[in-house]
Amino acid sequence: MAWTEWALAALLAGSTAAQDTSVFSKSSNDSLLWGPYRPNVYFGVRPRLPKSLTTGLMWARVEDFQSVQHNVRYTCEQHEGMAGYGWDAYDPRTGGVQTVHDKGNGIDIETDFVKFDEGRGGWGARIKGTPREDAEPGAGSEGGVQTMKTAVWFYAGMEGLGSLEVQDAEGGEELGFDGDVVITGQSQDLGDFKLTITEPEGSSHPAHAHPAYKSKPLDHTFVHSLQVPEDALWQAKAILFASMKTTVDAYVEEHTEQKMPPPWQTYTIQNRPGEGNMHLIQKVFEGPFEFDVLYAPSTVAKTATSDDLGKAIDAVVESFDEKYLEALKPQAPFNDDKHLLFSKSLFSNLIGGIGYFHGDQLIDRSYAPEYEEDNEGFWQETADARARGEQKLEGPYELFTSIPSRPFFPRGFLWDEGFHLLPIVDWDPELCMQIVSSWFNTMDEDGWIAREQILGVEARSKVPVEFQVQYPHYANPPTLFMVLDALLGKVGAKDSSFYTGQQIAGDLAGNALANPDAVKAWLKQLYPLLQRNFEWYRRTQWGDLKSYDRPAFSSKEAFRWRGRSDRHILTSGLDDYPRAQPPHPGELHTDLISWMGMMASSIHHIADFIGETEDAGRYAKVSEAIKRNVDDLHWSKIDKTYCDATVDDYEDSVHVCHKGYVSIFPFMTGLVGPDSAHLKDVLDLIADEDELWSPHGIRSLSKQDALYGTDENYWRSPVWMNMNYLVVQQLYNIATQAGPHQKKASTMYAALRRNLVETVYQSWLETGFAWEQYNPETGAGQRTQHFTGWTSLVVKIMAMPGLEGGKGAHDEL
Ligand SMILES: *[C@@H]1O[C@H](CO)[C@@H](O)[C@H](O)[C@H]1NC(C)=O
Repeated sequence: MAWTEWALAALLAGSTAAQDTSVFSKSSNDSLLWGPYRPNVYFGVRPRLPKSLTTGLMWARVEDFQSVQHNVRYTCEQHEGMAGYGWDAYDPRTGGVQTVHDKGNGIDIETDFVKFDEGRGGWGARIKGTPREDAEPGAGSEGGVQTMKTAVWFYAGMEGLGSLEVQDAEGGEELGFDGDVVITGQSQDLGDFKLTITEPEGSSHPAHAHPAYKSKPLDHTFVHSLQVPEDALWQAKAILFASMKTTVDAYVEEHTEQKMPPPWQTYTIQNRPGEGNMHLIQKVFEGPFEFDVLYAPSTVAKTATSDDLGKAIDAVVESFDEKYLEALKPQAPFNDDKHLLFSKSLFSNLIGGIGYFHGDQLIDRSYAPEYEEDNEGFWQETADARARGEQKLEGPYELFTSIPSRPFFPRGFLWDEGFHLLPIVDWDPELCMQIVSSWFNTMDEDGWIAREQILGVEARSKVPVEFQVQYPHYANPPTLFMVLDALLGKVGAKDSSFYTGQQIAGDLAGNALANPDAVKAWLKQLYPLLQRNFEWYRRTQWGDLKSYDRPAFSSKEAFRWRGRSDRHILTSGLDDYPRAQPPHPGELHTDLISWMGMMASSIHHIADFIGETEDAGRYAKVSEAIKRNVDDLHWSKIDKTYCDATVDDYEDSVHVCHKGYVSIFPFMTGLVGPDSAHLKDVLDLIADEDELWSPHGIRSLSKQDALYGTDENYWRSPVWMNMNYLVVQQLYNIATQAGPHQKKASTMYAALRRNLVETVYQSWLETGFAWEQYNPETGAGQRTQHFTGWTSLVVKIMAMPGLEGGKGAHDEL
């Protein structure tokens, strides 16, 4: 073989190998393998692997017979008397510290979690209980709250094939374990491993004189090993109650109801250690307590100890604090300790809410002709088509994602995710890339991504049946493209980024920069999926220009959300925002064409960056056509704002104007630049206190709209942080570029930024939580509690530069 042939062969071999290799390195994967990836529970560690080891924590105050069954904490719930909970510091690569302020149970539970040796050395969790100062003394707490009785349950279950076995089960069969409990296990993905639940000195256990104590002393740890159906493992609370009921029944039999042992003895699980795919472990404490859970793969030379764990926790918190100041430090006027603490908490909850989900999901692929939505009255036809219930379980799918809210929306939502990743990309661009990849891997051959990912029975158990089914003709805002744009900004791929990009990154020293080569390699892999997704939107959500007389720059670029009813467009994300009445197949939606403009501009920049020059030229044209059509189709000269369009009784195209988020959408998505003829009117509308401006942020609907605050009032007045983030970001962009409205934008930017931060901060101080939306009159947080998804964008708003004119700026508007 000639040397040129050699070289060619080597080159080809190299390129094939390159295609097989993921851009995510083994070490990156290792550091992300384990985590509290069950954000729906207060604390549950599992690996980012399907069908594997799953763990969870439960606890309850056990001082009287009546309240115990209501006091057991497991899944995050909104109305359990929590005075706040969540991660105070958290980094998915290393770990962090969470506190659950369980006012209802009178105790604060701290759950620390760290990975050893960047994830290769296993992990450790420290569970700590501290009776609260404000706890009511309960029955049997003669010594005050310092003798409070708390039961704690930790469980480990193995999904799929593999084993879990309690070591020295015979030793624990009699009275329970008087030292550490060690479980050994094995599975294909994890290999051999050991899980240790420690019994450190220093914690107290309640002693008492009832004869039941002798055969089950509470200074021992009890283990109930069970074999349960794989799909039932997550129902640990029901399993726990069943185990305790057996104990209760036996005590009634033996001692009679009149002479029962105290509740902290009565509410104990069966002590039956041995084999099984699930092991429930119980400890009963008096006063403050602490114990550890240590996971060690057999590949580690030396298993980490509780001592190592303590040191690792300190180190993790310290490095988190340091990195925070580099990545997301609040800027003036929020450059003080209280805002730093607030910022860290919100960010840690956002990034600590990342979960790994796996399972099948319900999809209706019946492709009924009604789903074309061509006829007048289509919304009734589609309702009938959906009612035929032709959905089937598909999958399994897997998804690595953050979530909007641990108690209420503990699963992936497509349009939320783009917003979630904007702060995360500042912290860890590569983590963000892993999440984006995971989302695009759920895409089907047509280019459709389900907007809500309800994977598996546990996820479905949280969703009413009528909302479980996904439809492959329904869209959702393509927000992941904002993140791609932000990533490009981080590698300096273009002049300015509309979303989070270079301009801001450049102003913040040390803001995590992505590795340009890695981003490029990754984007090259992702690119075909991005194209398919973009074309899917254009193909399925097209708006009808041809059937109606609608002069526009381009005869193609117009869009309509599919899936609307007379009252809602759930697919738009802005559920009950007022739209044309009645619905009409000739509608055009301002928010959707704006999203398409954002998407086109993003894919244009990506094509450019990875050297797909021809495509880049084509996408640039689409992008420009959309921009022109936004003005041609949606600007109302009469109302001086952007409006939806529909078709009237005479088949004429007419505008439907409801001033609010929809009417400023082209601005929010970067389509109204400093030179736009409409910029002044847009800014005036936003700044008008009788319309959109409130002291707590920009209202979803104008105060002047007849439907302001009516019906469900979901998107008809409340202040939403995701939309406000886009507004504040665009104001910043206008304020930092030469143009006739630069000064006004600057003043508005400073005032809005301050209003948003103070609103979320005050409500957080008062309630202990971030909320789904905020009341425009009072600033009170409303609807879903612990909404640490896009409300956490306030972290980015604090990290944005404080332009001059911040003080009393609003007076000058
Ligand atoms: C890292 O994980 C991703 C997805 O979880 C996978 O596709 C990739 O092959 C992994 N990389 C390596 C080097 O194992």
